Amino acid sequence: MNYRHQFHAGNFADVLKHVLLVELVRALQRKEKGFVFLDTHAGRGRYDLAAASAGDSLVRQPEWPEGIGRLWNATGLPEAVTSYLAMVRAHDQSRGSLSGAPRFYPGSPLLVAAMARPVDRLVLCELNAAECDALRAVMAPTRRCEVRRADGYEELAAVLPPLERRALVLIDPPYEVQDEFARAFAAMKEGLRRLAGGVFALWYPLTGRARADDILAALREFAPAPVLAVELNVAAVGAGPRLSGCGLAVVNPPWRFDDAAREAAAVLAPLLAQGPGSGGRVEWVVPPS
Ligand SMILES: C[S@@+](CC[C@H](N)C(=O)[O-])C[C@H]1O[C@@H](n2cnc3c(N)ncnc32)[C@H](O)[C@@H]1O
Repeated sequence: MNYRHQFHAGNFADVLKHVLLVELVRALQRKEKGFVFLDTHAGRGRYDLAAASAGDSLVRQPEWPEGIGRLWNATGLPEAVTSYLAMVRAHDQSRGSLSGAPRFYPGSPLLVAAMARPVDRLVLCELNAAECDALRAVMAPTRRCEVRRADGYEELAAVLPPLERRALVLIDPPYEVQDEFARAFAAMKEGLRRLAGGVFALWYPLTGRARADDILAALREFAPAPVLAVELNVAAVGAGPRLSGCGLAVVNPPWRFDDAAREAAAVLAPLLAQGPGSGGRVEWVVPPS
């Protein structure tokens, strides 16, 4: 396991994923009943963007300037994006960052923790020991939050179905291993078997149209559960950065989440574009019946 999210924190892919994650939580909180948030691949919780350019042995280009950096002073954003941005700003300022640029970026665990009500609960899984230690330290003050150093796919079966009977599951793997998609799909299938109404959000990289179509075809097998795919390309495949696009597939999206996702994608696509061929798309892979 070589992946360190530190180098990618706050990039365009994080922006899309986290905007949609915040919107999913907002949508689930329209009902009073609590839910469990399961982050199968939680990361270290907080990222110091000033350290993001220095690798173990090589200096890397930081990715956040083309992500959260592009949004920092943007105006006229839809509510889904402003809610996310307000949370990132609040977190950054709470860590003492006073410059005109973001410095401390909250990962998925901190974003959801900032929104969690007393009835909601977090279960965070992280397999890498150092990342998990960092996550434990960051989440220590958070109530109703459990950090597990464990394989998130295996924990999914342990956590579901939860007592609350409501769950939001974020599956955000690093795609370092060949069978990552197969494992993620199998985990989601098992999750749906255990909690048919659970909301599952799977992040995936877009590295070629054919591959993307394969992903969408595999997602069709989740029918009858509705599946929405939200995709963002910052450039044509092969033309821009190494990762030129990504998507979030949401199984059982809450009511009207598709509208918010469309609004967000329409604004994020031009803001985050890095070259020709950029664009966003929101598609019902399995429409609601
Ligand atoms: C993309 S990062 C997570 C980012 C985080 N979800 C966020 O949005 O802030 C993926 C993380 O998964 C961890 N990881 C890799 N395989 C795992 C597994 N099978 N179970 C749990 N964590 C794993 C990696 O160490 C890495 O920290």
